[in-house]
Amino acid sequence: MSVDLHEPWSIGPVEVPSRLVLAPMAGVSVQAFRRQGRRFGAGLVCSEMVSVAGIQHRNERTLGYLRVAADEHPLAIQVFGSDPAAMAEAARIVEAAGADVVDINFGCPVKKVTKTGAGASLLDDPDHAARIVSAVAEATSLPVSVKMRRGTVDGSRDCLAVGPRLVAAGAQCLTLHPRSAKQMYTGSADHSLTAELVALVDVPVIASGDIASRARAQAVLATTGAAAVMVGRAAQGNPWALAEIMGDERAPSREEVVAELLLFMRETVRELGELRATGFLKKFYGWYLGRGRFPKPFKQELVTLPTIEEVETRLLAAAPGAREVLERLEAELPEVDEVLLDSLPISIYGGG
Ligand SMILES: Cc1cc2nc3c(=O)[nH]c(=O)nc-3n(C[C@H](O)[C@H](O)[C@H](O)COP(=O)(O)O)c2cc1C
Repeated sequence: MSVDLHEPWSIGPVEVPSRLVLAPMAGVSVQAFRRQGRRFGAGLVCSEMVSVAGIQHRNERTLGYLRVAADEHPLAIQVFGSDPAAMAEAARIVEAAGADVVDINFGCPVKKVTKTGAGASLLDDPDHAARIVSAVAEATSLPVSVKMRRGTVDGSRDCLAVGPRLVAAGAQCLTLHPRSAKQMYTGSADHSLTAELVALVDVPVIASGDIASRARAQAVLATTGAAAVMVGRAAQGNPWALAEIMGDERAPSREEVVAELLLFMRETVRELGELRATGFLKKFYGWYLGRGRFPKPFKQELVTLPTIEEVETRLLAAAPGAREVLERLEAELPEVDEVLLDSLPISIYGGG
């Protein structure tokens, strides 16, 4: 059965123009990644998870995650925490920052997060999880979505009990990554649970986990009834996976790969500053240049270069035609029109 991925759908009043969603990924989903995802066909992009405690304490780096560019919309900003009042306050700030959807993280399996009562641990406490959703939904006029795992332990079906309660509490969309928290990223995502969840709730469900090709995306949409598929790891350094899922099977040339990487690097430097970007970008070199696109020693060499300028020079020497592609890409990009963080009404929530 063929499914049309170009069909729009909605989260509350927010229209999402395609059935492909770019996953939130900590340490990956910077603005450059999200803008690129939109260009390659994602109908909705998400920030990485943002700490509610960090927002409360006005942590500078945390607030940096709330920067929204004009060409990212629709955009979900994801928050994690465990205190309903603090989550509600964070939701108001997320709204002021210009997000279209507030997403709540009930899926993070990492100890540092679960031991604070946040992330996937909330699947073990449905009452408290529902209190959080209801506090957030009351605090913001934006639609609220929740991203969750199947449960905390292997074989758990808790998402099927928790999901409908979250909808009753005000969630207008659910994303299910049907692995247990204990599994982390091992084993496989069991999308038969996604189909069961879809049957239980009357809000759209996004299917996340192991979707890396058009064939898989079509199969998951057709067999689960999900409103959209979410793609994470397959899109790391590989926006062409998104294009393929949307129906454009053309493999990129070496010049296009290098040009996209260079654009990503420049945008990331603008976003994070040269110092942070230098370390942040290293994993992306392997992601972009892997998949048989460039020889391994070349990738290894780039990681050892001390400055981004040297990486740029080396990349352009390896694919001189990339310069022209990059110029074209940069000319096509709209001006970055950010909501300035200074304009956030942070002071009125200060101290509370
Ligand atoms: C590096 C990395 C960081 C992630 N960070 C987040 C996050 O901040 N919030 C979240 O809800 N999920 C996070 N996830 C989970 C993904 O959003 C997604 O559900 C999961 O990777 C399964 O999809 P995939 O097989 O397409 O990668 C992360 C995954 C990875 C690999």
